[in-house]
Amino acid sequence: MLTILDHPLAAHVITHLRDKTTKPATFRTLAYQISLLLAIEATRRLATEAKTIDTPLEPVTGRVLGPQPLVVVPILRAGLGMVQPFVDIFPDVSVGYIGLERDHETAVARSYYCKLPPLAGRHVFLVDPMLATGGSAVKAIEVVQSHGATDVVLVSIVSSPEGVAEVEKHFPRLPIFTAALDRELNARKYILPGLGDFGDRLYGT
Ligand code: PRP
Ligand code: URA
Repeated sequence: MLTILDHPLAAHVITHLRDKTTKPATFRTLAYQISLLLAIEATRRLATEAKTIDTPLEPVTGRVLGPQPLVVVPILRAGLGMVQPFVDIFPDVSVGYIGLERDHETAVARSYYCKLPPLAGRHVFLVDPMLATGGSAVKAIEVVQSHGATDVVLVSIVSSPEGVAEVEKHFPRLPIFTAALDRELNARKYILPGLGDFGDRLYGT
């Protein structure tokens, strides 16, 4: 279930993220902005409940977010660049961490860290800016599911058709939100046109 963010600001930000002359400080700001737009889109269907309050003039029944807790789980390290918007707009969100790193030769992701809060009964937003082969995402989804998560949403900034297909093959009903669906992977499993190595560009490495 793929949703591609359709917003002029998203298109603007993605273009500047792709630009190889964009420096890490600006890249981080742009990553924040696109992640905020994605966070808003990915939480569009959160349950709300009625709440009656008094305005300065009269009572009114409005709606507030329901009680189901949210958890954001970045896939380290690049996913860290997507966490802050979730924390800013959902102050009670819990944060878990999954460390995965692709091998430079094989592009197969190796797990090196995992620290997760309880996930059962919670909305889990797995955030990773690049969905390339889909190997990291599939591994991370398996990890959160093995920790009790049943309601998982994947949020990426740039996706490849191959990566989306891989996630859909393993988890046909899992919602994926992305800001761009690119053309293909190259021989080294980088996304084309893509934006290069997100983690390197975010952290200037
Ligand atoms: C990047 C990216 C994803 C992964 C996507 O991380 O942030 O986690 O590659 O590729 P895949 O879909 O083919 O698995 P990387 O392994 O480069 O590690 P980093 O975040 O530490 O830079
Ligand atoms: N990881 C990245 O950072 N970029 C890609 O294009 C693919 C994987």
